[in-house]
Amino acid sequence: MPCVFPCRTLRMVPKGWTSIIQTILQVEEVLSEFWLGVEELKEVMRRMKQEMDRGLRVATHDEASIKMLPTYVRSTPDGSEVGDFLSLDLGGTNFRVMLVKVGADEERGWRVETRHHTYSIPEDAMTGTAGMLFDFIAECISDFLTIQDLKHKKLPLGFTFSFPVRHEDIDKGILLNWTKGFTASGAEGNNVVDLLRDAIKRRGDFEMDVVAMVNDTVATMVSCHYEDHRCEVGMIVGTGCNVCYMEEMGRVELVEGEGEGGRMCVNTEWGAFGDSGELEDFRLEYDRKVDEASLNPGQQLYEKLISGKYLGEQVRLVLLKLANEKLLFGGEVSEQLQTRGSFDTCFVSQIEGDSGDRKQIYSILWKLGLRPSALDCDIVRLACEGVSTRAARLCGAGLAAIIDCMREHRGQGELEISVGVDGSVYKLHPCFKDKFHKTVRDLAPRCDITFIQSEEGSGRGAALISAVASKMAS
Ligand code: BGC
Repeated sequence: MPCVFPCRTLRMVPKGWTSIIQTILQVEEVLSEFWLGVEELKEVMRRMKQEMDRGLRVATHDEASIKMLPTYVRSTPDGSEVGDFLSLDLGGTNFRVMLVKVGADEERGWRVETRHHTYSIPEDAMTGTAGMLFDFIAECISDFLTIQDLKHKKLPLGFTFSFPVRHEDIDKGILLNWTKGFTASGAEGNNVVDLLRDAIKRRGDFEMDVVAMVNDTVATMVSCHYEDHRCEVGMIVGTGCNVCYMEEMGRVELVEGEGEGGRMCVNTEWGAFGDSGELEDFRLEYDRKVDEASLNPGQQLYEKLISGKYLGEQVRLVLLKLANEKLLFGGEVSEQLQTRGSFDTCFVSQIEGDSGDRKQIYSILWKLGLRPSALDCDIVRLACEGVSTRAARLCGAGLAAIIDCMREHRGQGELEISVGVDGSVYKLHPCFKDKFHKTVRDLAPRCDITFIQSEEGSGRGAALISAVASKMAS
């Protein structure tokens, strides 16, 4: 195994410090497990393509780990309504309500302006009952309408609901399973739009016309499509990780009348890739521990290798392993570091973003009750790099599989495509983005890919989709 992690520390070590060099070599040995070579990434890509195909076909859909869910968002919107729309965004630790003004614009067709408010979701609403969660949502909407002086208006509403949903239409869909730490009972297996409508009725102090429910990837794609018409893929790498894309209608077997032509957006729900064992040879002891301690063991295994909900915890387990082998912190760890969830994913970004003076790294480790040496700081940084580099490359292999499938399904030798991306890991980690882009481009050489960083995509996208849905219903 070649030395795969750039050992910048070595250059700083005075000659003769052989024990330090030894330590670093042993650390690199532990971290080398995180490195995935090109052939391994190609294998991930191959298995991803296979599962996508199984997810799309009626005959194999039920047993496929990647569900490839039709969204009923089609490629040929016939104009849109203009006016005020309310957007809701549920899918992470915060819930957002947004007022979006969609207006006609001569050049681009649509003009979008927004006002919004963010509410943090109490733990008991996330993990209690569906009634509690949706009552909380209705309470937030009511508060927002009061602030905006809109209580008297019955606005059309677009709901960005970022979980796996089996749609029957654009405003009707069953929650298949919760992800990302949500467990509210009584929601799985039920129509999410009905849960929202019932909660609004229970409150009785305002009315809404729920016209569309979309996944955050779909909202991101649509809002970026508005800027760049080549955007036919939407991706989130944040608390969770997922991709949607425009598939040829003829391949979306789950929707009747698929012979019609045109395209429909498919929410891949690729986070569940690996749940049928497809990633067993790539998962490490840390991944198994992260999964076992999660609220949904055995589920979302690919997501658990990549997304922000899990990266910090992976690093924490690696640090414990290194300390246990006496390669870090002199073998002593603080109580905080031994506590599950204490190593936030934003620490990974901050540590890798350290300018070289280690100040940021010291400060984080001190807050965790540790008293690190300079070498400890460098080793912690290497551990973060190992974990985040694997995440970026695995995610890149997945996206390369999707884009290359799109090219094949369209029968094109080359494909020019734009991808709208959002999410804290993608946006805030200092190197994820570059490593991820490079991996996708290396693995899908026949595709010319532009990445668009989405701003406020969830809310704006849901409003734009609602504006089209309203027009079609009128
Ligand atoms: C959910 C997806 C969502 C993604 C990003 C995943 O856990 O299953 O529906 O798009 O997180 O928020």
